[in-house]
Amino acid sequence: MSEKQSSGGDFRYAVGESKVPWHAVGEFYDGKDSVEMVKFLLPDDGKDGYAEQLAKVEDEIKKLASVSGKATKLTLGKKVAEAEELSKKYFGSKYACFLDNWTGGMEIAYKLAGIGAGDEIIMPAVTFIATMAYPLSVGAKIVFADIDPETINLDPADVARKITPKTKMIVPVHLGGYPVDMDPIMELAAKHNIIVMEDAAHGMGGAYKGRKLGSIGHFGGFSLHEVKNINALGEGGVLLSNEDWAGPQFPGGRFLGLDFTRKIKDWLYDISPLTDRFGKPQVALNHSATEIQALGMILQMQRLDEIIAIRRKAAEYMNSVLSQEEGILVEKADTAETYGTHHLYLLRIDPKIVGGNIQTLSKKLAEKGLTNITHFGPMYRFKIMKDFGYDEEAIAKTCPNTEEMFYNSYTHLPLYPLTKEQLEYQAHAVVEAVREMKEGR
Ligand SMILES: Cc1ncc(COP(=O)(O)O)c(C=O)c1O
Repeated sequence: MSEKQSSGGDFRYAVGESKVPWHAVGEFYDGKDSVEMVKFLLPDDGKDGYAEQLAKVEDEIKKLASVSGKATKLTLGKKVAEAEELSKKYFGSKYACFLDNWTGGMEIAYKLAGIGAGDEIIMPAVTFIATMAYPLSVGAKIVFADIDPETINLDPADVARKITPKTKMIVPVHLGGYPVDMDPIMELAAKHNIIVMEDAAHGMGGAYKGRKLGSIGHFGGFSLHEVKNINALGEGGVLLSNEDWAGPQFPGGRFLGLDFTRKIKDWLYDISPLTDRFGKPQVALNHSATEIQALGMILQMQRLDEIIAIRRKAAEYMNSVLSQEEGILVEKADTAETYGTHHLYLLRIDPKIVGGNIQTLSKKLAEKGLTNITHFGPMYRFKIMKDFGYDEEAIAKTCPNTEEMFYNSYTHLPLYPLTKEQLEYQAHAVVEAVREMKEGR
């Protein structure tokens, strides 16, 4: 492969190579635009000196623009390829694909796994809609596994009970960044010839038995949406695999069946479908990501381990304060085998000791000015499931821990980037609210 071919980008355009180059970029960004981008990323927060400092860099950036070249490649170029190389190295995966978001990454994995109408996909009852969006859209049946009350992750024993001859995939979700117990899941998958995809949207940088989350299943990957531990200028995703039947198809899966890492003879006609696990063709849509998104991820990747360490300390602090109060169940600490990312803090209570349930506690916390994150509820209770003909009460009966925990016991709290004062306020507000409930206030 020539250097040009191997850099992993979009080679529709002969960027700067011929005497009359057909540039990839129709219109360039100039010095004035660049100043606006600096102002966007580093906004005026009302602090003294902002206007003076901005005036200085504005002049300097405009001067720089007068002597600089122009960015001639904005999508699927060298930065995207660099983000992928970094991912392969950091996560220990043979194949990596950087794309627009993780929902798009999951779509490609579901397609390669050949998911279609009537197939059954087992996933935890508690996750985000994105996990099930693709299989639901093609008429596959979502089978909800009950949760482990300690972690709110799917319970491998319930997964085993729910496997049928129609089960094609198991999708564990490392919820809040706490690692799922992967060994029993992988054993079940091997026994029943099922594909495993780890939804590690919250799990970037975490590990299970020395392996990075997202690199253990047949597929796995991360969200780089703005609220995740690191982001790619607001949106992004990484899809991983070690499978030789799947990984080489990622570039085509990302852009309409065109693989720009190979020599395109005639890009208008050189389009191939994905070939799924059963040898059937699947249509690829467009999940391309931009160079600037890839740069965003590359920059924040350098801080990922440090960010997790700060989050871990914050979780330890929450545990140290909350463990003093009877009735509060602190977050399960990492074991020798797990390294969580502490994306969210999992707060649980024993409603009998506290004298009320998590719904009451959540209201009290909101009154005290705390943000709690309530959207990770039982998916089968979401209205959209009724629209697709799912019987929520029948499913609820198969997920007793989910019902008990969601309505009575758990919620999530933020950990980062809270100041020391905010973190202390949050921990003590939880204790105070629990004491009020015990005293019937
Ligand atoms: C558990 C889970 N899975 C998947 C996703 C989807 O990721 P993205 O927003 O990058 O498509 C999210 C995003 O919030 C998530 O929380």
